[in-house]
Amino acid sequence: MKLSVIILAAGKGSRMKSDLPKVLHKIAGKPMVEHVYDRSVELDAESIHVVYGHGGEMLKQACQTFDADWVEQREQLGTAHAVQQASPHIDDDNIALILYGDVPLIKTDTLNALVNSVSGDDIALLTVDLEDPTGYGRIVRDTNDAVTAIVEHKDADDSQKKIKEVNTGILAVRAAYLNACLQRIGNDNAQGEYYLTDLIEIAVNDGNKIVTAQPTDESEVEGVNDRIQLAKLERIRQIELAHAIMADGAMIADPARIDIRGELSVGNEAFIDINCVFEGEVNIGTGARIGAGCVISNSTIACDSVIKPHSIIEDAIVDKNVEVGPFARIRPGTHLYEGSKVGNFVEMKNTELGAGSKASHLSYLGDSEIGKDVNIGAGTITCNYDGVNKHRTIIKDGAFIGSDTQLVAPVTVGENATVGAGSTITKDTDDHALTLSRSAQKVVKGWERPKKG
Ligand code: UD1
Ligand code: CA
Repeated sequence: MKLSVIILAAGKGSRMKSDLPKVLHKIAGKPMVEHVYDRSVELDAESIHVVYGHGGEMLKQACQTFDADWVEQREQLGTAHAVQQASPHIDDDNIALILYGDVPLIKTDTLNALVNSVSGDDIALLTVDLEDPTGYGRIVRDTNDAVTAIVEHKDADDSQKKIKEVNTGILAVRAAYLNACLQRIGNDNAQGEYYLTDLIEIAVNDGNKIVTAQPTDESEVEGVNDRIQLAKLERIRQIELAHAIMADGAMIADPARIDIRGELSVGNEAFIDINCVFEGEVNIGTGARIGAGCVISNSTIACDSVIKPHSIIEDAIVDKNVEVGPFARIRPGTHLYEGSKVGNFVEMKNTELGAGSKASHLSYLGDSEIGKDVNIGAGTITCNYDGVNKHRTIIKDGAFIGSDTQLVAPVTVGENATVGAGSTITKDTDDHALTLSRSAQKVVKGWERPKKG
């Protein structure tokens, strides 16, 4: 049977105290609603309907990649009313699955089991047993254990309040029957809202069954109403991501101290020390080592490379057997070739550092093309910017740049050329030659230093 998913995302989220619609707040670098959307895609849904209310434009803008039907719920009159905005657009014979944009950690396996348990006009309901069920709709069962109703916390009597099995809100039902039931739901209850949960009692009265399924983990059905809950689910998700990486054979020093905000792939035998942040798409090769406190975004670190602590790498390619850091900053467009080395307090931008070349200390290398086996002395600076335009510096294979050199671009240093320490290089230098620009050293003999008066 075909599946259609309705994602409820119209809630205001006032407890977030944010201008951003609640479902756009991120978990693992991705809006909550996108996690739910991704699960729907994994379920092979024929159509995905997002019911939105607040911040519709912001929502659509942030979710441009969604192949979804956007439906506005102008007034938040309750969950049944929200579903009703979308369900008439669904093919009668499809199963409609109701998900929530603020319940981001739901698993595809759990949903598959739920959807597969629907038959005829029976309703498949996801429930969970909670130690503290306060606030949730309680699952009322008869003496045969058959579900007869869901009673909202605010409408529950004392004995119902003791029930620990609660409604997660997630359910699946044939669309034609869902639509027929929604017509019959009223708003005569404590909150004056159209409750989707009334569906259960209606179905029972129609002689249909309520089949229940449970998630593997409680976190799958936890919703986010405030930033504290958001942070809690973030941590749970991070641990899941870390464990998956470790299951594949890489080591994470402490799975509780890593932040993956995007897609991180890690080869086996790689090691990630504590407090690293990974953003966007990051690939780490087999045997690579990432030191403590590194921030790596949209980059590739190939096999056996070592990134020492507190290095920042962004939009860059690091080939194998490279050493970076500690305290290096590798900016966009940089490519470090095999066996090269970048040491502490070196900033690189839009620069190629050839195989076996080294910039070990305190340098700025921007818009440069550095060949193989080049040595960049401490304090070397490419002066790539004239205040208006950026210019390139080319340093050919085997060159040696003495410490504290300024290379005023555009400029080329020849092959196997040597530049003397402290030089300001403004013209291209010859291959195999020593070039230096340095004022001659003066000596004043017998010089007396001034004394305090
Ligand atoms: C709902 C269930 C409750 C369940 C709980 C689980 C109902 C009546 N109650 O209660 O049984 O235990 O979820 O978390 O369904 N929404 C809209 N439009 C609306 C109203 C709500 O889109 O008009 C969305 C909200 O953004 C939210 C979700 O539906 O994502 C649930 O609504 P909420 O008002 O939070 O329901 P609860 O009182 O938590
Ligand atoms: Ca809620």
